[in-house]
Amino acid sequence: MDVLSHDVLIVGGGGAGLRAAIAVAETDPKLSLAVVSKVYPMRSHTVSAEGGAAAVIKDDDSLDDHAYDTISGADWLCDQDAVELFVNEAPGEMLQLEHWGCPWSRLPDGTVAVRPFGGMKKQRTWFAADKTGFHMLHALFQTTLKYDPIQRYDEYFVTKLLVDDGRCRGVVAIELATGRIVTILARSVLLCTGGCGKVFPFTTNANIKNGDGMSLAYRAGVPLKDMEFVQYHPTGLPFTGILITEASRSEGGWLLNKDGYRYLQDYDLGKPEPHPVLRSMELGPRDRLSQAFVKEQEKGRTFEGPYGDYVHLDIRHLGKAKIDKSIPFVRELCRKYVNIDPVHEMIPVRPVVHYIMGGVHTDLDGATPLAGLYSAGEAACVSINGANRLGSNSLTELLVFGARAGKAAAKFALEVEGSGSSAISAQAGDEQTRLEKDFLEKQGGTERIATVREEMQKIMEECVGIYRNGKELERGAEELAKLSERADNISLDDHSHTFNTELTAALELGYMMDSAEAIIHSAKARHESRGSHQRTDFPERDDDKFLQHSLAYRTESDAPRIEYAPVSITRWPPGKRVYGK
Ligand code: FUM
Repeated sequence: MDVLSHDVLIVGGGGAGLRAAIAVAETDPKLSLAVVSKVYPMRSHTVSAEGGAAAVIKDDDSLDDHAYDTISGADWLCDQDAVELFVNEAPGEMLQLEHWGCPWSRLPDGTVAVRPFGGMKKQRTWFAADKTGFHMLHALFQTTLKYDPIQRYDEYFVTKLLVDDGRCRGVVAIELATGRIVTILARSVLLCTGGCGKVFPFTTNANIKNGDGMSLAYRAGVPLKDMEFVQYHPTGLPFTGILITEASRSEGGWLLNKDGYRYLQDYDLGKPEPHPVLRSMELGPRDRLSQAFVKEQEKGRTFEGPYGDYVHLDIRHLGKAKIDKSIPFVRELCRKYVNIDPVHEMIPVRPVVHYIMGGVHTDLDGATPLAGLYSAGEAACVSINGANRLGSNSLTELLVFGARAGKAAAKFALEVEGSGSSAISAQAGDEQTRLEKDFLEKQGGTERIATVREEMQKIMEECVGIYRNGKELERGAEELAKLSERADNISLDDHSHTFNTELTAALELGYMMDSAEAIIHSAKARHESRGSHQRTDFPERDDDKFLQHSLAYRTESDAPRIEYAPVSITRWPPGKRVYGK
């Protein structure tokens, strides 16, 4: 097998991975650095982010306000030391990105424009119209091009972390164009592979978001933290799940039920006009808005459609000029995907899986409990998002913690000896054999990838949706375990080596099954309701027992071991979440 070698290896070429790469190159230009990505970096999911990135910039705002909004939005489950660090470093990262070429939208006087976003009591969301992720990723990607040490392995798929003597020392990867299996040794490895939204059937997430990095870490013995917290965004287009950005509500859009009523006023989120947009009920936090949708559904006040029940998002009163200037992509998406023009018609929307608050357990520098292994971005759980992330915090998170993790991984690489060993070669050889015997050469399996994937997604939607209960979680966990056994009986029709997408789909299914297992068991063990985790059998928040992070450790059985770790509280004791006042 070919063996490649670098000092630092970043897995994932999205926003977190590219920001980390720049940080590594700036820490020491002599470090040899590689970015491995299963897609060309500009196709990473960061590109699809729409509404904006949060950081304090206005005089009437403060770092403490940003911290408090984030902490109460998270229903107090985030680590307050992480949040304080995040809000402190956020403005610098945003300015840095501007210097790297990100075209932030501006006011007529030339100052950076900011918009209000869900659950935030001040305007602090920077944006580039409603294509913020596209512009951020471009700025980062172009910046990486000027650093010679950054070598890219585009369209390489990582299948395993190589671990010896308690240290991560590299990965095994498949070059997708040829099927060549390679070992890539590294003194430190940084996982920036994004979330795992595709574990659910209806999601804003691209098909590439399969929890790859979460699973790689989980299989290497690193716990996954707070996986029960899955975010539903309140406004996805039925059928495709395409996101209709929160910016449409921040610009003044309304949510209406089938009676044309702004139903959010019934859910403790504020009242209709003359409320200012900044604190309008439509700009409540995502968990509360998605839960309100379910309640409306139960009252029979939603529309029935071929792709599930929905409500209306009305932006007609904003007028064509404002829509075209501030949220042109919303108009474009509606025209292309639902054949309506939101200047004249209301947009059908329903809650859609958007983000996972949990992820690979890390410290404030992205270090996991496994020496030499780091993680940042949605793949990681630092944690600043707790039980419910506020919209626009994640783009900034990938900058702040991508940079921190990159610096830390670089420093680690400078301090340790090389990575190769006979044990590592043996592990890499075993992995090659696994890929050949269990996938490329295997014949006669009776299960189909698509069938198993769809059944997994159905279990997750039915049992770990916006509202959960013990009975359904138990059923889901049992069915998932059976499905996992069936997944071992998959064989491929395509045994070729060139761009074998069936092989990657099979490997991705394995990754998703790991995330699904961690989500369902962490949810089953949390006997309380907090943020996005709403248990109908335990409807109250229980700080005495559950103001703790869950940690799911992989075991040899069909269920992970769930442990708990304390939440860091610095200055804001647990309180009540209040919106719309
Ligand atoms: O609605 C949005 O634009 C989503 C933003 C986010 O998830 O941060």
